[in-house]
Amino acid sequence: MNNRFKNWQLPKIEHGKLTKWNWVVYRPENFKLGKKTDIGAFTAIFAHHGVTIEDEVQIGSHCTLYSASTIDDKQGLVVLKKNCRIGSHSIVMPGITVGENTIVGAQSFVNKDLPPNEVWAGSPARFLMTTEEYSEKLRKRRKK
Ligand SMILES: CC(C)(COP(=O)(O)OP(=O)(O)OC[C@H]1O[C@@H](n2cnc3c(N)ncnc32)[C@H](O)[C@@H]1OP(=O)(O)O)[C@@H](O)C(=O)NCCC(=O)NCCS
Repeated sequence: MNNRFKNWQLPKIEHGKLTKWNWVVYRPENFKLGKKTDIGAFTAIFAHHGVTIEDEVQIGSHCTLYSASTIDDKQGLVVLKKNCRIGSHSIVMPGITVGENTIVGAQSFVNKDLPPNEVWAGSPARFLMTTEEYSEKLRKRRKK
């Protein structure tokens, strides 16, 4: 675990106001945030129908988590399971669960549940590889 989380503290979260880290939650009474989470600046969380972010989840900047989408009349709890990572500028739609340890690439549109331990990206998000394959790829890249 990254050392910068050693003194992690839950920030003050108020409806429609930027936190000290410059992300914002609407309807925070329906928002659950795990420990050692890292949410990038200008991410917006619309928790009207519930958003749950489990421990150690990382979200890039400029993401949007929608538990309600008025354009297509969708509602539902959004769940980001433990240690998943959401690349910057991504959108997660109502009712979606992103599985434990799964990685979502930057600028993805996540409109279906993603299983644990996989890498998905694109609009709509598509399967790229398992996290095991991704780790192996990183290991090889570092050796070069
Ligand atoms: C998804 C991701 C983790 C994959 O990493 P990677 O394996 O090193 O990426 P590569 O560049 O080798 O791409 C692998 C393939 O996935 C595709 N791909 C990678 N990222 C993509 C993305 N965000 N959207 C669509 N396709 C993507 C590549 O085009 C490539 O496809 P190809 O094999 O057909 O050419 C990475 O590209 C990414 O998006 N990281 C998020 C970064 C981020 O948001 N950082 C800020 C927050 S901390």
